[in-house]
Amino acid sequence: MEQIARDPRADFLAVYNSSANRREGAVAMLKWLENETDFFTAPVSSKHHLAKPGGLVIHSLNVWRRLREITVRELTDRDAPGVRHLSEAEEETVAILGLLHDVCKADVYHKADPFKAAIEGRLATMAPYEFRDPFPLGHGEKSLFLITRHLALTEEEALAIRWHMGAYDDAVKGGSRSMNEAMNLTPWVWRLQEADMCATWIDERSAAE
Ligand SMILES: [Fe+2]
Ligand SMILES: [Fe+2]
Repeated sequence: MEQIARDPRADFLAVYNSSANRREGAVAMLKWLENETDFFTAPVSSKHHLAKPGGLVIHSLNVWRRLREITVRELTDRDAPGVRHLSEAEEETVAILGLLHDVCKADVYHKADPFKAAIEGRLATMAPYEFRDPFPLGHGEKSLFLITRHLALTEEEALAIRWHMGAYDDAVKGGSRSMNEAMNLTPWVWRLQEADMCATWIDERSAAE
């Protein structure tokens, strides 16, 4: 799959400013991400896919693109010729979910110290980053909290952000059935889960090979 080769930050801003900027609080949200977090330089993981500066923004764009494809596919009427075009409101939701679902990953990956790793005899296996979360609220829960401090989400978007980890969510692993209820309420829950999985396991894995 073709990867985004241009400046990921510029691509992020282009999508955000064309599709999400009419939402209440969108300007404040972006200002906060740019000035008070490491969102635009953070990796997306400590050692797996895109464990490099800017990885989080590349992943967010990959999820946005996948979510857009999934939504178009799902809304296209099989009996009607041609591709279904998304409405302005649908484009807005796709942009907000794709670009912001992982804001919980800002400020949690810290560059590993090779000197410390050498002293401890683990230089060969050292991951590029170490994970330390100063605000351990839970993955989807934290993204939801951080976004809604600035930007107004719809109820459907809130459910999708909260449950985007799917089967990997701690509450789901503990037996909660709330995610199933959320999926019954809105297709955006499983659309975002599918987009996140496709980006992580197809786009970012094949790019790493
Ligand atoms: Fe996530
Ligand atoms: Fe993600």
